[in-house]
Amino acid sequence: MARVRMKVDGVTYEDEVEPRLLLAHHLRDGLGRVGTTIGCDTSNCGTCTLQLDGESVKSCSILAIQADGAEITTIQGLAGDESGASQWHPVQKAFKEHHGLQCGYCTPGMIMATVDLLKNNPSPTEDEVRHGLEGNLCRCTGYQNIVKAVLSAASEMRGEGAIPGSFQDSADKSEVSA
Ligand code: FES
Ligand code: FES
Repeated sequence: MARVRMKVDGVTYEDEVEPRLLLAHHLRDGLGRVGTTIGCDTSNCGTCTLQLDGESVKSCSILAIQADGAEITTIQGLAGDESGASQWHPVQKAFKEHHGLQCGYCTPGMIMATVDLLKNNPSPTEDEVRHGLEGNLCRCTGYQNIVKAVLSAASEMRGEGAIPGSFQDSADKSEVSA
């Protein structure tokens, strides 16, 4: 067993783990952070994507012991917290408003990969979005609404306003219960 310490979504955890344990399994089974989903365990589908020290990684592709000392953000920690109310990240809002999901299984990884894509390229073309997300597979949507969501989030994050989507409702779309 090996001792690992990591900060996940703002909370520091210290645990004994098997040296062969994958980070994805440690997060889900050891820490109960089940927002990070596992689709393949072989680095192909991208659904386990998260941010590790600010970089997008597939958490089934590294060992928990390799994340010792790291700061991790999962889909569960992406929403900010202002004035006591959690605020969806613009990418989360855009996926909702453009219905960039169906079953939702790929969505945590798709959103976390998008956050990284837009950090490195704030004004992507449609082709660049498709290329940037090619490590993340979706079996449901055909990708069209995912691409629309990413372009909308990019526009909003540049301060140019979100592209209107078809799935807005009258409720405040930016607030979710804590
Ligand atoms: S579960 Fe990690 S890439 Fe598929
Ligand atoms: S929404 Fe079902 S796999 Fe992408």
